[in-house]
Amino acid sequence: MQVLSVASEVYPLIKTGGLADVAGALPAALAKQGVTMRTLMPGYPAVMAALEKPASFHSFAKLMGGTATLLVGKAKGLDVFVLDAPHLFDRKGNPYLGPDGKDWPDNAQRFAALSQVAAQLARGELGNYKADVLHLHDWQSALAAVYIKYNSGPKSVMTVHNIAFKGEFPAAYFNILDLPPQAFAIDGVEFYGNLSFLKGGLACANAITTVSPTYASEICTADYGMGLEGLLQSRRASLSGIVNGIDIDVWNPATDKALAANYSAADISNRASNKRAIEKRFNLEPGDGIIHGVVSRLTWQKGLDIFASLLDWLVGTGARLALIGTGEAAIEAAVMAAAAKHPGRIGVVTAYDEALSHLVQGGCDTMLVPSRFEPCGLTQLYGLRYGCVPVVARTGGLADTIIDANDAALGAGVATGVQFSPVDRFSLQNALTRAATLYNNETAWKNMQLRGMNADVSWDHSAAAYSALYKGLV
Ligand code: ADP
Ligand code: GLC
Repeated sequence: MQVLSVASEVYPLIKTGGLADVAGALPAALAKQGVTMRTLMPGYPAVMAALEKPASFHSFAKLMGGTATLLVGKAKGLDVFVLDAPHLFDRKGNPYLGPDGKDWPDNAQRFAALSQVAAQLARGELGNYKADVLHLHDWQSALAAVYIKYNSGPKSVMTVHNIAFKGEFPAAYFNILDLPPQAFAIDGVEFYGNLSFLKGGLACANAITTVSPTYASEICTADYGMGLEGLLQSRRASLSGIVNGIDIDVWNPATDKALAANYSAADISNRASNKRAIEKRFNLEPGDGIIHGVVSRLTWQKGLDIFASLLDWLVGTGARLALIGTGEAAIEAAVMAAAAKHPGRIGVVTAYDEALSHLVQGGCDTMLVPSRFEPCGLTQLYGLRYGCVPVVARTGGLADTIIDANDAALGAGVATGVQFSPVDRFSLQNALTRAATLYNNETAWKNMQLRGMNADVSWDHSAAAYSALYKGLV
């Protein structure tokens, strides 16, 4: 079984969020299932620099206004096809945004090119490679399913990591896509008079998955579907939810070099050294009280505007906070202002720092994820693995991966975290209060930590589900 996975970000080559972690971990997870997965991705500078002994696989005299080469090779252990199209991808910084923080003006061309090449490569047109299944991730590769529908190619799987990003462009861009006129229609790429790449993928792919069963149900409703709920309802029989795993070698507290001290479920006493390191790194007063942790994009999706409005209250309860994240200016400003107002109690790092994100998991007491919606969420899974007890909203993958410490779950000895709903100030306050009460019960807390650390958050189960899906298609 040969599967071509197409993604716009792949850890450890380039990452802005969880999509990269998933796209980076899937090939190794699937190899154990007897599935050979290769990954096609854009030739951003960081990717080009990581390519080892690349060979030219195909040359394009003209691809969206420039010459391009499809390279094949290895990069940091991954088997990759890299689309080297300097006029589209040779840009420093964020893959999607220019230095002004706005979308690159030619994002339609950039990701239509990636999708065109994906369809051609998958159907065996470009050289000695052919895929049995084409696995597409999010809007950046979604058009490949459309190219296949209106031409030919293998069966396709469209995975939705976040339906909020629909790849919408004005209808005038249809001309550059090189699709037949009938593709600008309700069963093609047309979306309320505009174009949506994701909508095209959802309409044309043979199977649709999203990254948790709860999110699969949620996106069929008007509250979560972002206008695509009607289409998804009509395709409900082809839509399933497969929860993400995590790379348990990259995320292993027993060997993690980003930690001040390593530990495991067999003996978590060393974890305390990481808490001391968090106090130093985030300029927090030393102490044994609870330290909440946040590792997140600072956006409306993540509910951190609500959390930011509670920080005076939180400090009043005696808790401390270590937060690392970047995102919306208003939320960044709010958390930085709170840190300035409460030195020693609130520490904020507004940067993207992979190593520090590991230390937060290894040293904080809780991992807060108060998302308004969350397709899967990975930071709560890292939290489980690191004994950093997740405090999460009851939505999407957060609902599917954390067992709330209610009386029944505590009595049965199965609780792994704290859940709350709805996502508002009152419920979040309540959840933080419950977490602090549990934290003060040393035995109950340690039991929760250990249950999380012993939970199976690996890819094994989900890789088997993807493998079964591919086999069912071909
Ligand atoms: P999303 O993809 O919606 O942002 P996920 O929880 O699926 O949410 O994945 C987020 C990923 O990005 C995790 O691997 C998390 O550790 C990482 N991350 C988010 N913000 C930062 C940051 N400021 N520094 C380092 N890693 C971060
Ligand atoms: C998206 C979602 C997140 C999910 C990730 C990987 O970024 O927001 O919930 O974990 O994709 O699937």
